[in-house]
Amino acid sequence: MDAIRIYGGNCLNGQTRIQGSKNASLPILAATLLINGTCEIENCPDISDVYHMQRLLESLGCSVEREGTLVRVDATGLSECRMPSDSVGVMRSSVMLVGALLARIGSICMEYPGGCVIGARPIDLHLFSLRQMGVAIEEKENGFCAKAAKLHGATLMLPFVSVGATENLILAAVLADGVTVIEPAAREPEIQALCEFLQSAGAQIEGAGTERLVINGVKSLMPVRYRVPADRIVAGTYISACMCTGGRVFLQNAPVHHMKSVLSYADKMGAAIEYESDGILVIGKDHESTCNIVTTGCYPAFPTDLQSPFMVVMAASTAGGRIEETVFENRFRIVPELRKMGANIMIHGNVAYIGGDSKLHGAIVEAQELRGGAALVVAALSAEGTSIVTNRHYIDRGYEDIVLSLRDLGADVELA
Ligand code: EPZ
Repeated sequence: MDAIRIYGGNCLNGQTRIQGSKNASLPILAATLLINGTCEIENCPDISDVYHMQRLLESLGCSVEREGTLVRVDATGLSECRMPSDSVGVMRSSVMLVGALLARIGSICMEYPGGCVIGARPIDLHLFSLRQMGVAIEEKENGFCAKAAKLHGATLMLPFVSVGATENLILAAVLADGVTVIEPAAREPEIQALCEFLQSAGAQIEGAGTERLVINGVKSLMPVRYRVPADRIVAGTYISACMCTGGRVFLQNAPVHHMKSVLSYADKMGAAIEYESDGILVIGKDHESTCNIVTTGCYPAFPTDLQSPFMVVMAASTAGGRIEETVFENRFRIVPELRKMGANIMIHGNVAYIGGDSKLHGAIVEAQELRGGAALVVAALSAEGTSIVTNRHYIDRGYEDIVLSLRDLGADVELA
């Protein structure tokens, strides 16, 4: 079955290595299309979204090799300008190839990447901004074709912050004629990693990690070797699991400097964090919660990707809590599944009210997207009795072998 069986109640104890960042690996792999030669990307996580991206690059004419967590991409043979619809359908991150393909070969046709249960996730901002850089876009019912003889710089005053649009526009701008300004740009660590990769290849980018990016287009970029940072969302997910079970877990390589808001909330919600040179020790239930109100937002605010796992922390706690989701319009889809486990949650608009002291119990629950699926696993770890989380493939998109990692930490968990 495509499921995970968990017998809840064990405290998590021990150490786990935090994998490379999914949301940094994907745009950096897309960026290799800009480079005529072989790039080596280290610490790429062993997850299905990265494998989909590898296959997508191969379908465009690149040669891609993988050795453990090292991925080599040679984009010399880049030829195709049409993306296979099955890959686009499976992984909406394919849209971030558009900027790179326009910059390198000047043309791309693809189907619209689908939305998902967390929201419609349109790409209107991507397309509107690319048009300002000289791209002719013909939109059709299910997709679009974009062409640009030569991209030119533009001052892009975006109506709101978008991680994906920022990434796409960076990839379109680094080889464009002239200067591109992106404001407000997303400030996420994954954007900073993308800029670091491109700067090491010779791109001229100022303002990485700030709301204003200034990119001076260059003629070409050179092949480089780059190490992807650790995944802050995976680290935060393990923190939530430790908080729900009350264990002591050392998160090796946790990217602490990218997790200030997450660690601050974890402390306010009762966890103790001890900082070591190569990671953090998380003591799940160290003191009474002093604050259980979370509002998600763009970095450096609390990340929307950890909203569901921290909802579970609140549901498993005495005090309960309140979460306001400000990024995606439908990111409370996990609530009906948590209610099957005994959680007492009320939704009002974009705010979830989580009642305390709701003793979670085992149930058969259905993952419907990546982070909600991971949160159901977290809930099952602390629930009384046996749970089965179905649609495990959603979780495999972003978490390396979560069953093995949790079993190594003492959880009673198996593939089902
Ligand atoms: C990225 O998605 C991440 N995905 C998401 O992580 C993350 O939740 C999100 O950024 C926010 O941090 C990857 O990096 C692969 P956005 P993205 O563009 O780029 C709206 C995970 O679990 N919008 O910042 O799609 C959009 O609908 C995933 O790893 C438009 O309206 O997010 C959303 O409401 C889930 N039009 C808001 O902006 C557009 O053209 C923010 O989306 C683009 C976005």
